[in-house]
Amino acid sequence: MSTSAKPIQDYSLLSDEECDLRINAAKEKLGDSCVVLGHHYQRDEVFKHADVSGDSLKLSSYAANSKAEYIVFCGVHFMAEVADILSRPDQVTILPDLAAGCSMADMANLKNVERSWQELNTVLNAEELITPVTYINSAADLKAFCGRHDGIVCTSSNAKQVLTWCFEKREKILFFPDQHLGRNTAFRMGIPMEEMVTWDYAQPMGGLTKEQITNAKMILWKGFCSVHQMFEPRQIDNFKKIHPETKIISHPEASFEVCEKADFIGSTEMILKTVRDAKPNTRWLVATELNLVNRLQEEVKSQGKHVHFMSPTVAMCSTMFRTDPQHLAWVLENLADGHVVNQIQVEESDKQMAKKSLDSMLALF
Ligand code: 13P
Ligand code: SF4
Repeated sequence: MSTSAKPIQDYSLLSDEECDLRINAAKEKLGDSCVVLGHHYQRDEVFKHADVSGDSLKLSSYAANSKAEYIVFCGVHFMAEVADILSRPDQVTILPDLAAGCSMADMANLKNVERSWQELNTVLNAEELITPVTYINSAADLKAFCGRHDGIVCTSSNAKQVLTWCFEKREKILFFPDQHLGRNTAFRMGIPMEEMVTWDYAQPMGGLTKEQITNAKMILWKGFCSVHQMFEPRQIDNFKKIHPETKIISHPEASFEVCEKADFIGSTEMILKTVRDAKPNTRWLVATELNLVNRLQEEVKSQGKHVHFMSPTVAMCSTMFRTDPQHLAWVLENLADGHVVNQIQVEESDKQMAKKSLDSMLALF
């Protein structure tokens, strides 16, 4: 064991090939004590080192049940926080690059959610009438907020079941931070647009009148994903002029207008499964992150399936992209040498209540 942790600077000039060798050697040394989780949006050079890949729900459930001492999460910050909350106290969660955040998650913070809750309380009894729901793409203190207010977490693959659970308890939902997941899900559950309002957190009372708030069933935080907002309905129309037989598949973080034109809507895991299970010689236009789409395209082309990326411009998640082989080699070699770097530790004060809202979600399955 070396005496102190090696700095990241020692790795920044290594080639990807050199990193591959060092990652493989470190993983070999660590054996079952370490598991590398990889979200579907990770770049190929990192994704190939993942022991388990998946969407947010699959990876958080895996972290909750993993026996490994170290969970190295190739994803973004909120995902590593969830792994830390759900894993045992003696397990250690590591995020290879601490700058790997989520711009959508940053659109809601505890201060503006608490202020909004107080404002809602001036119009109605929020505690009695509203269930707060946070998309898993959010900071741990917001999951704790939901835990304290008898709310819940959802992911892109279980939002419908979660909203159903909420409406059995109370008549309204405050949904943050992604307006699109909330709107797309609620609309497909039969909630009309007239009963949904967008809460503009930059404005007093969300920019809404008392009447709008009282009449709403879904109060949708005005957050969005900068990657998924690149997809537009006209891209579908233009593509279909050339290939009318194309099936459209979208992540629910895309806009309502895009999802309206989609044949299938679902999480990253669901998108992969649907195209993999489809008949040969089918054509797919996909509205989600580029790394996933490129890999899927390669994977299914031998079956005669054609996979296309919806946007004419590159729509990559720049924060997912931060995790590179150099950072992965750095954290794994240090671990193999007995040094933990970049550990993600959720504040104890938030952990219990955040776990409550995550457990409420996991209990539905
Ligand atoms: P999934 O849970 O569908 O993988 O989505 C996570 C995410 O951040 C999508 O932008
Ligand atoms: Fe966040 Fe969007 Fe990146 Fe997903 S794709 S991690 S929602 S910024």
